[in-house]
Amino acid sequence: SARAEDAVRRLTRWHDDFPTPGVRFADLTPVFADSAGFRAVLDCFAACAPDADLVAGVDARGFLLGAGVAATLGTGVVAVRKAGKLPPPVISREYTLEYGSAALEIPADGIDLAGRKVLLLDDVLATGGTLAAAAELFLAAGAEVVAAAVVLELGFLNGRERQGDYPVTSIVKL
Ligand code: PRP
Repeated sequence: SARAEDAVRRLTRWHDDFPTPGVRFADLTPVFADSAGFRAVLDCFAACAPDADLVAGVDARGFLLGAGVAATLGTGVVAVRKAGKLPPPVISREYTLEYGSAALEIPADGIDLAGRKVLLLDDVLATGGTLAAAAELFLAAGAEVVAAAVVLELGFLNGRERQGDYPVTSIVKL
């Protein structure tokens, strides 16, 4: 929506050479701290997948979005964790980073994911490895990823091309 896009463009903090040289970091903290901005972002994401019956947010800023959108839609929420944070058994997927790799995990039991319609959320889509790995976790568990959405898409990194067969919405694409 125009309100969400305006809030993101106006309030994002940009910082050069963070966390590593050559990276320009987009800090969305002020967007989430703004009542109208946060509301507009949540409503925009909820509208992406009104039929979702589960919302998932990616470690760490995606947790804020996931919880907010789940409460908006009236669904539950799953936190997709970085490796080592959840007790076993877990489903795990590695993804590549600029240097090396990391893994994301969700519980392998305790949640009946078969056939669930998942809306997957994160703050930023950069190279796309994180979002793709998160989606693969739910597919491996027998769920369907009905949509993925991010606040900010760094289009020049082509992360969208690494995504699976689900629509990807971004509020602002740079
Ligand atoms: C950032 C961001 C996304 C991911 C996007 O998280 O929040 O999750 O990178 O990058 P990609 O599209 O190139 O995979 P980060 O790894 O910094 O973790 P954090 O949220 O725990 O700080």
